[in-house]
Amino acid sequence: MSGEEAPTQQQQPEQEKTSDEPPAAVADAPKESEGSPAAEEKTLSWRSLVLTGYGGYDKIKLQVKTQSKPQLKAGEVLLRVKACGLNFAELLGRQGLYDQLPNPPVTMGMEGAGVIEAVGEDVKDRKVGDRVIALSRSGMWQEVVVVSADRVFPMPEEMSFEEGAALLINYLTAYLMLFEMANVKPGKSVLIHMAAGGVGIAATQLCQTVQDVTVFGTASASKHETISQGGVTHPIDYRTKDYVEEIRKISPNGVDIVLDPLGGSDTQKGFNLLKPMGMLIVFGAANCVTGQKKNLLAMAKTWYNQLSLSTLKLMQANKAVSGFHLGNITDEQLITRTMDKLVELYRQGKIKPHIDSSYHFEEVAEAMRRMHERLNIGKVILLPEPKKEEEKPKSNAEPGENVEQKEATEEVKAEKD
Ligand SMILES: NC(=O)c1ccc[n+]([C@@H]2O[C@H](COP(=O)([O-])OP(=O)(O)OC[C@H]3O[C@@H](n4cnc5c(N)ncnc54)[C@H](OP(=O)(O)O)[C@@H]3O)[C@@H](O)[C@H]2O)c1
Repeated sequence: MSGEEAPTQQQQPEQEKTSDEPPAAVADAPKESEGSPAAEEKTLSWRSLVLTGYGGYDKIKLQVKTQSKPQLKAGEVLLRVKACGLNFAELLGRQGLYDQLPNPPVTMGMEGAGVIEAVGEDVKDRKVGDRVIALSRSGMWQEVVVVSADRVFPMPEEMSFEEGAALLINYLTAYLMLFEMANVKPGKSVLIHMAAGGVGIAATQLCQTVQDVTVFGTASASKHETISQGGVTHPIDYRTKDYVEEIRKISPNGVDIVLDPLGGSDTQKGFNLLKPMGMLIVFGAANCVTGQKKNLLAMAKTWYNQLSLSTLKLMQANKAVSGFHLGNITDEQLITRTMDKLVELYRQGKIKPHIDSSYHFEEVAEAMRRMHERLNIGKVILLPEPKKEEEKPKSNAEPGENVEQKEATEEVKAEKD
């Protein structure tokens, strides 16, 4: 393995970098003259995970930035981040495949949980000391961040920061697809791919809130026990079996809803599996990603095999095809309303984020590798707090499980056919 390919395990932060990309609103803050005690009081230092270019794990650097304390604008809050979510989009972003991420150098991270340290003018319903979860297009992977108050949601007392950081993107995505788009009803059947991943577990839990919903879930075999306990009716090992055949054996007519985060030939298979009146929702292109580095062949194959059909065909087949992208939802009221419902479901014990593992910022390469190598069950969390000596990564995985899985997952092919 070349140096460039080697994961930048347990990075030491690059000290006192001049901040080229401060937490959002800090960008406009006036600089203090350095040296005097007054200036020190008005400066802020924070750790930040910066994507410095596109490529492998080594492109993400842990930097310590120092700049003037932010002058909050109206409607903004300053958040001390305690835990952040790692999403598949950041694996894509690191490879330059996520168009919603600003160009490097940029701090990645779309969700986090923490405590409000300051509020700007006009912020009425949030106050200093509130425990909140926050959503942002990028920039959440840092110790402090300025975010818009309308993208900050209160956390229930009993919710941990890790759970808060795991709730937003996975559950918003799953909820909006299942209930706003597909309108899942009692007695229906749903195919959930990546069923042991963050969105997959969220979607399975949400399906349990509707009576008699049958869930077909594809996942690596070692995760089947966990996802069965979580509500997947029929777990399918897509790596050793043809999932279409397996579903047809159980349900010859197919399924009512397919959630497709894979793209390429899997979208075609999903469409063919739909029963009349069924709906396919395309919401990702994970088949483009086969490992740490960009794979042009896998991208071309996914693009070449994508579903292409006419509206006439849809009419004749009585089927619906839909697309979903959380990042393109600009309806703040829809987001807020959905978050209220999710928090209520959490309070009622009907949903609970499954935390796979938590890594400190220094270990971001390990965290990403866990997802690339298909080892995670549920959410991978990043912790801004510096790692203490001798501390091991907090993982729900059994020690033996990782070893076994790793052997089976090196550089997985995008599509088998
Ligand atoms: N459109 C949107 O708004 C939106 C929002 C959130 C997420 N998404 C999409 O939803 C999907 C799931 O995202 P997530 O953040 O919850 O991730 P995740 O499911 O936790 O991702 C990792 C898991 O996915 C499975 N997997 C399947 N193909 C993979 C591949 N090519 N590379 C690595 N792992 C692969 C592996 O489990 P198994 O081997 O057990 O299957 C792996 O453990 C992604 O495609 C993501 O882009 C879309």
